[in-house]
Amino acid sequence: PSETGRVLSIQSHTVQHINIPIGCRGIFLNENFVFLLRLLISSPDRQNSLVCSWWDGYPTFKGHVLNGQQLCDLIEGLSANHLLYYTHLLTGYIGSVTFLEMVLQVVERLRVVNPGLLYVCDPVMGDEGKLYVAPDLVSVYREKVVPVASMLTPNHFEIELLTGLRITSESDGLKACNILHAAGPSKVVITSLSIKEKVFLIGSHQKVKGQSPQQFKIVIPKIPAYFTGSGDLMTALLLGWSNKYPDNLAKASELAVSSLQAVLQRTLADYTTAGFDPQSSSLEIRLVQSQDDIRNPEIKLKAESY
Ligand code: ATP
Ligand code: MG
Ligand code: NA
Ligand code: MG
Repeated sequence: PSETGRVLSIQSHTVQHINIPIGCRGIFLNENFVFLLRLLISSPDRQNSLVCSWWDGYPTFKGHVLNGQQLCDLIEGLSANHLLYYTHLLTGYIGSVTFLEMVLQVVERLRVVNPGLLYVCDPVMGDEGKLYVAPDLVSVYREKVVPVASMLTPNHFEIELLTGLRITSESDGLKACNILHAAGPSKVVITSLSIKEKVFLIGSHQKVKGQSPQQFKIVIPKIPAYFTGSGDLMTALLLGWSNKYPDNLAKASELAVSSLQAVLQRTLADYTTAGFDPQSSSLEIRLVQSQDDIRNPEIKLKAESY
């Protein structure tokens, strides 16, 4: 299994560049992504450390929202320095249509350099029936982003927005995955589907275009708390584990869910020990304390094939 990769991660709300050691580098715009990818996508050869001091030319972006033109400038800079070879592009929260359109151009540019580039897209639009991005982003995701994505990680509400399907059963979920496969991506993971008080992850891998996908579910035990950033972590974990197990989305998902559940349990325990009521507000995930759970999760939740 492959363990190395070069990931370019783009989101529009928090912006930072970080020197990524060992075999991957990029604009990492979210600390959680960086941390996880460092753990999961790394070659044992630490000699290959890359220091992108080049990025120091852009200190003003730190902490600001990046607009489409600035993203374009960054990419031009990468291109001028022959740094456009990536194995993965990862996108999360994107706040405007102009920025999203620019991301689409980035996908094209990166695929000129590496036609095998995998674009892992978390189509962050909303949750539990509420849209939290500008409504005009929805059709751009649906019409332009879905067709070029390699893997999508929507939640329940987001896959409904992307497919126009109302999902009230597991079979609706599978149908929605099929609609997305037909539109583009070979891998779809619905990170959470709430059906009759239960939460499922549903995964679907269409190995050959036009053929029926391999589909599975993982039942997720619901923790009575609300966590900030679990969606970001989930997508980063899925990218990392899918890079290790490219032909086994069920296994990658088991590992990702198991890591995440361990991290969430640790977070909950931490807050509870400190005498905090976990239901009273949103919990900051304990990432740094959970490195072993991320590197070597014990698989406690198993995928069941359909
Ligand atoms: P977010 O709500 O952070 O924006 P999202 O809606 O994109 O993220 P979700 O599907 O809600 O993504 O969460 C991602 C993963 O986090 C789920 O697959 C699940 O494993 C885990 N998770 C989140 N909250 C809980 C919880 N309360 N109990 C158990 N697992 C949870
Ligand atoms: Mg959610
Ligand atoms: Na998600
Ligand atoms: Mg999300």
